[in-house]
Amino acid sequence: LITPLIMAGGAGTRLWPLSRDSMPKQFITLLDDGLSTFQATLLRVKGDGFANPIVVTNNEFRFVVAEQMRAVGVVGDIVLEPERRDSAPAIAIGALLVSQKDEKGLCLALAADHVIPDVEAFRRDCGRAASLAADGPIMTFGIVPTEPATGYGYIEPGKPLKSEGANTVARFVEKPDAATARGYVEQGFLWNSGNFIFSAERMLAELEAFVPEVLSGATRALAAATKDLDFLRLDPKGFAEATKVSIDYAVMEKTRHAGVLRATFGWSDVGSWDSLQAIRPQDEGGNVLEGPVVAIGTRNSLIRSDEILTAVIGLDDAVVVTTRDAVLVTTKARAAEVKGLVERLKKEG
Ligand code: GDD
Ligand code: MG
Repeated sequence: LITPLIMAGGAGTRLWPLSRDSMPKQFITLLDDGLSTFQATLLRVKGDGFANPIVVTNNEFRFVVAEQMRAVGVVGDIVLEPERRDSAPAIAIGALLVSQKDEKGLCLALAADHVIPDVEAFRRDCGRAASLAADGPIMTFGIVPTEPATGYGYIEPGKPLKSEGANTVARFVEKPDAATARGYVEQGFLWNSGNFIFSAERMLAELEAFVPEVLSGATRALAAATKDLDFLRLDPKGFAEATKVSIDYAVMEKTRHAGVLRATFGWSDVGSWDSLQAIRPQDEGGNVLEGPVVAIGTRNSLIRSDEILTAVIGLDDAVVVTTRDAVLVTTKARAAEVKGLVERLKKEG
């Protein structure tokens, strides 16, 4: 059995004002299936070859997580982090928990905020990647790039592995600048999907080699963890010793034991409002309209409101998002800049 490790403690600021510190995007219903991406992630790896999941999240989100799991009928372990330390410590915790049961146990680390419509293809790819990971490498899923985006990891495929469409990772570069990304796209690099399959043994060895303080901090946080209701609460002192770093920088850029399988599933990380507009069903005008909204003479836009009647006239390629206490108006082309906006709002209090 593969143990899913769901990393659900991130912030997702580019979908402000809907995604907030108190309710980040993985817990919001973005599509019309009535599920959050966290819930869709849980269902994607339910049963049939998969063990119950381990969910690693921030203490702040414990009730949302428990409630959303209950709502889709998924039972699993919920591990609470006392603070945000990015994905490497979360993966260390998951690998340690899996190895307590079986050193060679396989773990599938999943982002909680991706949209992957074809569940069957995803599960098939996981099975193939798992059989390669059992032999050694940390397996990634490669996505064919559609643009030189700077928000992704880039993978240069190396020598072929024993499975169709699978190669070693010759090079892994996390979030290159735009010029470098353009070069990589031309050279046939793939995007890293942000989901990983590995044996606990392999991941623990790589953490030990490249970020020993992440592993020792996670080990201590787990040794002194307390059980609180259904939650496993990590020890704050131990966890604070783990460096704040993502698995991409901590391990993937450095390891010589990584592989990439070309994903056969469609994938979007819904990183910003324009990418959400692109994957939602659009009306004849190319608009995605949601909630109490009216749009006249408007094309290729996303207009969304929680409760306040929102009307637009004569806008193209626009993003308008209204919530109870904030309104965002921007263009699709500049939607990624919302991240900087949120940082500025935080600084200004
Ligand atoms: N538990 C926990 N704690 N989870 C976290 C934390 C944390 O402190 N920080 C982030 N996560 C979770 C997020 O919720 C998300 O599910 C996942 O880890 C990845 O974090 P992101 O912050 O969304 O990473 P990214 O999008 O910048 O980059 C990653 O994903 C890209 C694809 O979407 C990288 O793996 C890239 O290489 C990849 O291309
Ligand atoms: Mg992401």
